[in-house]
Amino acid sequence: MIHFDPATRTFNLLLAASVYAMRVDDEGRLLHLSWGPRPAGAPADAPLTGPGFEIFTRHDELPLTLRYEFSTFGDSALQEVGLKAQFQSLPQQMAPGEAPHLPIRDVRLRYAGHEIVLDAEPGLAPTHGQPTAVASPRETLRLRLSDPVQPLEVTLCYRLTPEHDIIERWVEVVNTGSEAIEVETLAFATLHFPNGTNELTSVSGWWIREFIAARERLPAGVRSIEQKTVQTGHYTNPFFLLNRPGQAWEETGDVYFGALAFSGAWRIAFEQLHTLDVRCQAGYNPFDFGLTLAAGERHVTPAVVLGVSPEGWGGASRRLHAFALERVLPMPSDGPAFRPVLYNSWEATYFDLTLEGQTALARKAAALGVELFCVDDGWFGGRRDDHAGLGDWRVSPDVFPTGLDPLIDEVHRLGMQFGLWVEPEMVNPDSDLYRAHPDWVLHFAGRPRTESRYQLLLDFGRPEVVGHIYTLLHDLLERHAIDFIKWDMNRYATEPGSVAGQAIWRQHTAGVYAVMDRLRRAFPHLQIESCASGGGRIDLGILGRTDQVWTSDNTDAFDRIRIQEGYSLAYPARAMEAWVTHPISHQTGLPSPLSLRFDVAMRGGLGIGSNLNELSEAELADYASYIAFYKRLRPVVQGGRLYRLQRVEEYGASVIAYVAPDRRTAVYSAAVASYLQGWLRPPAPLRGLDPNAVYRVVDRHGVEVYRASGFELMMTGIPGDAARGASSSRTLLLEATDQ
Ligand code: DGJ
Repeated sequence: MIHFDPATRTFNLLLAASVYAMRVDDEGRLLHLSWGPRPAGAPADAPLTGPGFEIFTRHDELPLTLRYEFSTFGDSALQEVGLKAQFQSLPQQMAPGEAPHLPIRDVRLRYAGHEIVLDAEPGLAPTHGQPTAVASPRETLRLRLSDPVQPLEVTLCYRLTPEHDIIERWVEVVNTGSEAIEVETLAFATLHFPNGTNELTSVSGWWIREFIAARERLPAGVRSIEQKTVQTGHYTNPFFLLNRPGQAWEETGDVYFGALAFSGAWRIAFEQLHTLDVRCQAGYNPFDFGLTLAAGERHVTPAVVLGVSPEGWGGASRRLHAFALERVLPMPSDGPAFRPVLYNSWEATYFDLTLEGQTALARKAAALGVELFCVDDGWFGGRRDDHAGLGDWRVSPDVFPTGLDPLIDEVHRLGMQFGLWVEPEMVNPDSDLYRAHPDWVLHFAGRPRTESRYQLLLDFGRPEVVGHIYTLLHDLLERHAIDFIKWDMNRYATEPGSVAGQAIWRQHTAGVYAVMDRLRRAFPHLQIESCASGGGRIDLGILGRTDQVWTSDNTDAFDRIRIQEGYSLAYPARAMEAWVTHPISHQTGLPSPLSLRFDVAMRGGLGIGSNLNELSEAELADYASYIAFYKRLRPVVQGGRLYRLQRVEEYGASVIAYVAPDRRTAVYSAAVASYLQGWLRPPAPLRGLDPNAVYRVVDRHGVEVYRASGFELMMTGIPGDAARGASSSRTLLLEATDQ
């Protein structure tokens, strides 16, 4: 609920377990008042109406300590700001005799009005028209601020999802004057955390080691997580968890969280003042930012999704997961209820594609219970290896002399859906597309064009390029009965010269989103996987137009435990594609048993990437049995609530549970990543079960291995995996019985 008190000019955003409050002061400044979990016993509809107070009374320190709800460059230039702009026109009132020098770079925002509307949309919201699981209207507060002398209006937007304590924030900036305004910095939101909230959890990584979680104490000054790329990136990911050190744990304590719904160059900067006040600017990365607002022009930023959990890091993750499942992921009403079991031939055949080879794999995959068969890289143009062909999205007669349709028909006849790999933002210099349009890539005239994986990035700042890519993909989907595309993206931007200038950092993302949205509109049954050399494009923006993401190219089950745990901090299992591959990992060269590979992959959307031709009949039977078991677990894995019972970073083992919303079923999954002899791992009591229900605990073969009440399971855990060694793992299904 949004509450406004006209007497004190106080705004309260009242959510299920938390409150967010702001007020307008006597000078019209919008100041942050408070944000946090509602104290136990406080009525759910009670607003804050007090004035708050300044930390210091010495007036000359005021700009340092004032908690501007949206900070701007001008009267204070000492700290990070959410908005910095240049005006080429002079304000009407100037001091007598004042000599003008331009541009003016002073923005002061004052309250100009507000409205409460239903379902306003942030920038880059999906336009594919497909529903989300929950579509009930949501209240949005639009708070208008304007500069008293400059022609700039800024609207701060707050859209509420109260049941998950989530506020989506974004800003709209409008040039109300007659001359262009140059915006140099623009955040989606400025945030203020309670004093001392300075322990940050974030992830970092690289190709094949994405999502490695780390916890650190914020320094005095600025610590930012960011990417200077046109995709979300591998180095880190645009989400954070923040708490007071020592006052939060997996299931206890207040944890603030935020995640950007944007896949371009982004930054989340935390600034800790000498007062231990912690502020944050979350939005576009200012490093090469440029936005020219023409007279009358409006720019709407994407959103940052924010919240606070009184139930520790686990509660923060569950809120983000529920939000993504209900409000972000497209869920066509006649689409599959759960993500299908996928087979992808990349690690089996790499570029060695033939109709016969793929058909043979498809037949074996179907016999195992696979539901979606995806052909990876190498099916098009001159793409016989990674040196050539990107950009020429025509079926290669060298590979499929009779076209793709015989394979697609066979896959469909086998009862599976058909998927195909594409990498639409790229071009190899050795391609017909590049030979025809060498100027269609990011570059600066007369300067070198750095290749990465022998490829260049198309300039999505050119509308004709975006149009061309859309047309090619549309034709491909129109000509062939393709159910699924794996949309890959395998390099970073260098020499970011575009006809769009600095706007390319936003326009590239906008172009990708637009092509995906148009394709989904034109082909409502199309499913899309986001891949960028593994997990390089995973965020709440891309999840709004895709069905799943490729978490990492690293399919080594040991590494994967850690990668998936980091992913799970922010993103839901339903979207997390996870493959079972070879006994010796192609990425690490290390062995892992089949049980561990399945137990880890069954924590997300199960996929198979092994070369099925190398498996014995007995192994194939084992695969089939795991896949059948996964189909029983899947509703809980993909739609349940995640509890991280033991984290790999603490225990060397990861134990998790997914619990169905009605608590009648749950999945228990334990996987040991590293093990020191002589070490006894403590039991992992469950969470989230119905204490009064009795659960039977069954294994993959349907054998009941344990039976106990929810109360007992949540006090003591499931016996049997405490003393096991490295690489041991198990997955169990819990079903409530009636006695
Ligand atoms: C990178 C992806 O992450 C892989 O899964 C595979 O699709 C290759 N690209 C193909 O080139």
